[in-house]
Amino acid sequence: MEIKLKTGEVQKEQAELIVLGVFEDQAGLGQSAAAIDQALDGQITQITVDGDFKGKAKELALLYTAGHTAAKRILLVGLGKESKFSLESIRVAAGTAAKRVHELGIKNFSTEVFGAGLDKFSQADTVQAMVEGTGLALYEFTELKSDANDNGKKVEEVTLVLSDPSGLQEGEAGLTAGKAIVAGTSLTRDLVNWPANFATPTFLAQQAQKLAESNGLACQVLDEAAMQELGMGGLLGVSEGSDQPAKFIILEYNANRSDLDTIVLVGKGVTFDSGGISIKPADDMDRMRSDMAGGAAVMGAMLAVSTLGLPLHLVALVPTTENMPDGRALKPGDILRLMNGKTVEVINTDAEGRLILADALCYAARYNPKAVVDIATLTGARTVALGDQAIGLFSNDDDLVQRFVTAGQKTWERVWQLPLFEEYADNLQSFAADMKHQGGKGGGACIAAAFLDKFVTYPWVHLDVAGLVSTETERPYTPRWATGLGARILTQFLRDWAGK
Ligand code: BES
Ligand code: MN
Ligand code: ZN
Repeated sequence: MEIKLKTGEVQKEQAELIVLGVFEDQAGLGQSAAAIDQALDGQITQITVDGDFKGKAKELALLYTAGHTAAKRILLVGLGKESKFSLESIRVAAGTAAKRVHELGIKNFSTEVFGAGLDKFSQADTVQAMVEGTGLALYEFTELKSDANDNGKKVEEVTLVLSDPSGLQEGEAGLTAGKAIVAGTSLTRDLVNWPANFATPTFLAQQAQKLAESNGLACQVLDEAAMQELGMGGLLGVSEGSDQPAKFIILEYNANRSDLDTIVLVGKGVTFDSGGISIKPADDMDRMRSDMAGGAAVMGAMLAVSTLGLPLHLVALVPTTENMPDGRALKPGDILRLMNGKTVEVINTDAEGRLILADALCYAARYNPKAVVDIATLTGARTVALGDQAIGLFSNDDDLVQRFVTAGQKTWERVWQLPLFEEYADNLQSFAADMKHQGGKGGGACIAAAFLDKFVTYPWVHLDVAGLVSTETERPYTPRWATGLGARILTQFLRDWAGK
């Protein structure tokens, strides 16, 4: 699917369908809608006056023009209240409209750039949000569906029409950014959508190598022997019960540029989390194929950042393994030695994520980074605390917190800071080892973060995204299952850091 940008009057577009946005509380119609309204003898005014279409967010109305305009059909989409208009309103409206066009089986359509005339957001941000909403809504994962695409009903081309030619240059920048971000998020979704019998640690490593080859990145994949050498007892320990070999993926962008700031991203890559010996209940266990979504998010961000050519030295680390029960599996009470030499008593083998992350966080130190961000489906407690709407953020650096709050607001992958109080670590005292990896009754997300903190020697952010990376119900620009969450906020954070 191709998204194009041009300037002109959308009402003059020769198209199968054109999309117009309408605010809920607007006194009159916008310029293009007014022109079309006139051509249609006041049809748009009428359905709004009659109350059939109010312009509420996600509302749609399809009109047939019977030859009165250059376009065959007009699709009205609600933008919600103008006072609440945000980049997210644009994504939601663009996604809602694109899905409807897809259902109609129309191959190409033109659309207004919603809110472009308002001056509330830059033309670049506005166009970027249009591209994100459209591109992400039309995402499909059909690799394992035999009859996909059989009906030939697929949107092939979308034309975004900007009415003000002076916004074109900025708009082009938004188009480029939007496309890179859609590609990055789609990669994240693909990796998460592949079920665990396909998406093994070896598969993830191969995907990383492919990503590196096609985008000029450096890629190194450490095998278990190399992990042994480095003393990565956490990653190796978790992997013990699995027949699939663990991998430690290292992707590097601008590897030879010592003049640039170094940032390290770390993503949890558990390709299936059965819980190991402390096995999970059967209900919903299939969801645990998405336990590598943090790893997928950093790979998606890597794709977006390298496509955008950001002036940063960026490293992505993905410790990847299955967490399975078998005769050699890690047992509760076992003690592991992690990469920094510390010994850790394993309590519940289902708390595997923090063990593999701890080794990766130790490894990250060798880059002498300005900042390290880890992203992980780490604790069910994150879901209990924050539900569906906020990433749980922990950090030892207030400037980084602010940067993530800002990036979250812009991308609508919003964060909420949770405490990293020292006393949480009191729950991790062990009489047999340097520490336990789990303990306490409440505050599971905080205690997991307190554990990770013990392996950190630089400015750091931990993003707990458990429960946010997959969905059983589709949303305006998010089809069922993999949401791709993480790729966009990481990319935004990095763009802001690079000033691009
Ligand atoms: N991958 C899970 C966290 C998770 C839970 C993700 C629900 C998505 C939805 C993680 O490895 C885990 O099992 N965490 C345990 C930790 C506990 C044993 C201390 C949890 O949160 O229950
Ligand atoms: Mn687990
Ligand atoms: Zn897990």
